[in-house]
Amino acid sequence: MKKIIATGLILSTFLYGSQNLIVESKKAGLIPIPTSKYELNKLTYNIDNPSTIERIELGKKLFFDPRLSKSGLISCNTCHNLSMGGVDGLSSAVGHKWISNPHNLNSPTVYNSVFMSKQFWDGRNITLEEQAGGPILAGPEMASTKEHVEEVVNSIPEYIKGFKKAYSNNIIINFKKITDTISIFERSLVTPSRFDDFLNGNKKALSNQEKIGLKTFIDKGCVTCHNGVGIGGTMQPLGVSAAYKYNNVGDFKGDKNGMVKTPTLRNITLTAPYFHNGQIKTLPEAIEEMGRIQLGVKLTPSEISDIHCFLKTLEGKNFKMNLPVLPKSTNHTPLPNID
Ligand code: HEC
Ligand code: HEC
Repeated sequence: MKKIIATGLILSTFLYGSQNLIVESKKAGLIPIPTSKYELNKLTYNIDNPSTIERIELGKKLFFDPRLSKSGLISCNTCHNLSMGGVDGLSSAVGHKWISNPHNLNSPTVYNSVFMSKQFWDGRNITLEEQAGGPILAGPEMASTKEHVEEVVNSIPEYIKGFKKAYSNNIIINFKKITDTISIFERSLVTPSRFDDFLNGNKKALSNQEKIGLKTFIDKGCVTCHNGVGIGGTMQPLGVSAAYKYNNVGDFKGDKNGMVKTPTLRNITLTAPYFHNGQIKTLPEAIEEMGRIQLGVKLTPSEISDIHCFLKTLEGKNFKMNLPVLPKSTNHTPLPNID
């Protein structure tokens, strides 16, 4: 019986056709990462903080440079490890002196964060430029000061040279310029996936079960919050139909209206554990909990498995990241301070 139903579903999806599913996905608000560089640029470019190849490379070094932190140990990459999905794999982030995030918050990925309309779980910043200064100065994160960051960068001739090349000979290398340059690097962290290939017209990019999963994702209503190019990124209520089962871990309650930033589902297979306090360890459990608390439905095991199958198609494909070599310190570079 089960087999007949499954075959029926596959058959009807087959008959329904990939072209219809592409149209329906777009109608529902899902947007692919464009294949053309020009179109992509329109989505990632900030006219007030324009990107160039030199600035991206320089920002990458700064993203990886632990000397910006007080201890000399922690870089953006410590918690947003670009070698593993842009996260740290911990429930609650750990920073300076092994201090855990005071609100028990999980590190979101920085991949594709350029597509989010809000940054942070409570959406308190809009742009990556606004965001980048925060963690450097935060006590439990990098515990640094603006002066320390400026001193470090200005003590390293190779960095000075890099800034001159990326901007102009009379560039003043201050905290804002440094964090803006990190943001330019972050704007380049986009990871096109098989899902994008499909929406961009390659009907064979997804298997039948993945297509069924996508259709279920739309029909069940996941797409009402997880949409746009980021497949997330807007503020939404949490606990629409029931309270999140681990609500009491940490004191995070959303923004002043109780709204929570919808995380991107891109690379979701790489960014466990899940939810703002990282209490959910597996994707099937996250999918089931979302159905229960956001949609008021009990998803069946096969619906969960189909959606899970679809979510795997959001993993960036052929993604490459080269480790930057950082310029060496000088006698003027402030020493690490682990207190
Ligand atoms: C100690 C770990 C830690 C370090 C170091 C750290 N972050 Fe984060 N980051 C977090 C956590 C935790 C959050 C979520 C905090 C919140 O919502 O209040 C976050 C949020 C973000 C976000 C928002 C993403 C989103 O989808 O909402 C961006 C972007 C980001 N960090 C970039 C950076 C950059 C750039 C650096 C280095 C300058 C950095 N982070 C350093 C832990 C860290
Ligand atoms: C009403 C809006 C809404 C709906 C509908 C919704 N979500 Fe979510 N989703 C959110 C928000 C907000 C969060 C963040 C919750 C938190 O961290 O506490 C989230 C988190 C998630 C996460 C964890 C992401 C992470 O990085 O931690 C997954 C996976 C997810 N949703 C999948 C789904 C699926 C699958 C469906 C449909 C069954 C769905 N969502 C329906 C708003 C929604």
